[in-house]
Amino acid sequence: MITPQTIEQIKNRIDIIDVVGEYVKLKKRGANYLGLCPFHNEKTPSFTVSPAKELYKCFGCGKSGNTITFLMEHDKMSYVEALKFLAARYNIEVEETEASPEQKQLQQASDSLYIINNFAQKFFDEKLFQSEEGQNIALTYLKERGFREDIIKKFQIGFNPSQRDELAKALLQNQFNKELLPKTGLVVVRNETELIDNYRGRIIFPIHNNTGKIIGFGARVIGKADKAPKYINTPENEIYVKSKVLYGSYFARLAIDKANECLLVEGYTDVVSLHQAGIENVVASGGTSLTTDQLRIVKKYSNNLTIIYDGDSAGIKAALRGLDMALEEGLNVKLVLIPDNEDPDSYVNKVGAANFQNFVEKNKKDFILFQLEVMLKDAGNDVTKKSEVVNHVADTLSKISKAEDFTKLQEYIKQCSSVLKIDEGGLTNLVNKLKRDKIAKDEKRLPFEEANFILQQTQQPEDVLDDNFLLLNQDEAHEKNVLRVLLEYGLRNWDEQKTMAQYIFEELEQFSFDNIHLGNLFNDYRTRYEQGLQPDAKSFLYHPDDTVRNLVMSITVFPHELSQKWDERLEGMNIVNRDVSHQDVEISISFFQLKKIKKMFEENQREIEHADFEKQKRLIDIHNNLKEIEKKITKKIGTVIMK
Ligand code: GTP
Ligand code: MN
Repeated sequence: MITPQTIEQIKNRIDIIDVVGEYVKLKKRGANYLGLCPFHNEKTPSFTVSPAKELYKCFGCGKSGNTITFLMEHDKMSYVEALKFLAARYNIEVEETEASPEQKQLQQASDSLYIINNFAQKFFDEKLFQSEEGQNIALTYLKERGFREDIIKKFQIGFNPSQRDELAKALLQNQFNKELLPKTGLVVVRNETELIDNYRGRIIFPIHNNTGKIIGFGARVIGKADKAPKYINTPENEIYVKSKVLYGSYFARLAIDKANECLLVEGYTDVVSLHQAGIENVVASGGTSLTTDQLRIVKKYSNNLTIIYDGDSAGIKAALRGLDMALEEGLNVKLVLIPDNEDPDSYVNKVGAANFQNFVEKNKKDFILFQLEVMLKDAGNDVTKKSEVVNHVADTLSKISKAEDFTKLQEYIKQCSSVLKIDEGGLTNLVNKLKRDKIAKDEKRLPFEEANFILQQTQQPEDVLDDNFLLLNQDEAHEKNVLRVLLEYGLRNWDEQKTMAQYIFEELEQFSFDNIHLGNLFNDYRTRYEQGLQPDAKSFLYHPDDTVRNLVMSITVFPHELSQKWDERLEGMNIVNRDVSHQDVEISISFFQLKKIKKMFEENQREIEHADFEKQKRLIDIHNNLKEIEKKITKKIGTVIMK
């Protein structure tokens, strides 16, 4: 864990214009900077950066965040990596809290495994290019298969000599921990104490993680695999977790981003050959079914996944099993089958890059329709089986749940019902029902984004007078809005006696938050404030808990100077420099109170219906009291708006 002191130091030094400016050409416009959004394609700039708030927001694609999230999103760094990156940039020494003994051991083991792998890769490299056996047998084999030397070097492909313990000896000579060595899979123990090479006489494909470190190896026999398995792979250890690896992801990541498509093949050689042909947005699964973690790697770079397998591969069935997960992850999955017993490696070598790409474009099949066809074929004329297929398809389709995918879903329903020869309306109903069931389950999750909409409403005074004002209908928005003004203005003065924060605390004394996250944030702020810590939005934006960060982001990214509409409006009214914080606080608090009072009304009403006479009298008193308060607040809102 990086210490809070270090985070504080980094936070104080961050210059968002400086960091983001390296990726985006920014032009100053008023208090903000404007540029072309790096997260989507655009011709007119809508990517706005506010140096004062340390925030960016794109009005085209909606992406928003601070310097840390920019690095996380754009360069796919983790939270800790981003902090370390910034620390290095500003020459800040990173202090980390003492790790527990278990963590330390784990860390040491991982570090050692990386070091051993690195050593082994250099060894394999030397053996392939310098040793006689390597040149005559391994390199010759690779070249016969058509691999160029530059590509062999790029992928750091190597050779493990066939003698029983050349690598083992070299490792021991270099003082590597004998106990740890078998974990790497590079060597195995024979006769209890002796170490011998595990990949004797094999071509070695190093496997890199996303930052380019070698986490494991795939070792292929040279020529036909008659007796031994064709490949031996690294066993799982602290740094090699098969379900989290896609071979080639390190070399493919920029190309995937650029092409906005990830090609998925089965084998190491498929990846290497496609790269050699100039098709670099490709990773390999190793022929097993895809895991959620692997899909997330893809999703970091693109939402479009195209699976390219050979036509009769057992891998297709395995890949099919990953489909539902892919849909839930919001990926568009396409499938291409390579014909005639070829695989992508042999096919691209046979037809060349351009033809290969043409073939892929022309033969992309939608994965959902492909799966449907396979299942229908299996079902044959069996009516029960066929209705199972219908249910299965509906279930699959119900996982397409994002609003922007609506037209896609409709298209699917149309096509699937036509393939199934069933009524389109019936399938729509079934899908909708399954969706509703799913939504009911997900209901509890916290919606972040609607704050945007609501806040625009509060920023446009004339709308406030509308009886149907949305703030009163939208759940939780009033709570978010109170937190927004608290984070934004809390430390300013309300009047000569108190700060805005103190005023807000007083006004809300009688009320509580319905949303537990927002309530916690409010209390957290209050505690920090009372400890004299001067909390503001920024200090929460670097909170180690990403739920808090996201929440604060969703609340504070939309204040008026970041909203184009509001900008224009203010400019139009020529009141750019007017301080609207008092009105903003007052309106936000008032709506919060009104909303809570409305709820109390309703509860009171329900009680009145079931109360005896005495109690009813008391409840009616309460009712009248609430009415009075409501009147006052409404009046206050009116005067605030008229100001
Ligand atoms: P080449 O035959 O050299 O072109 O390799 P390939 O990558 O095309 O192999 P293939 O299509 O047969 O298999 C695809 C992937 O499955 C390989 O890259 C390996 O990751 C994995 N694989 C294949 N054979 C074996 C094996 O015998 N053992 C293990 N553990 N994995 C294998
Ligand atoms: Mn092959």
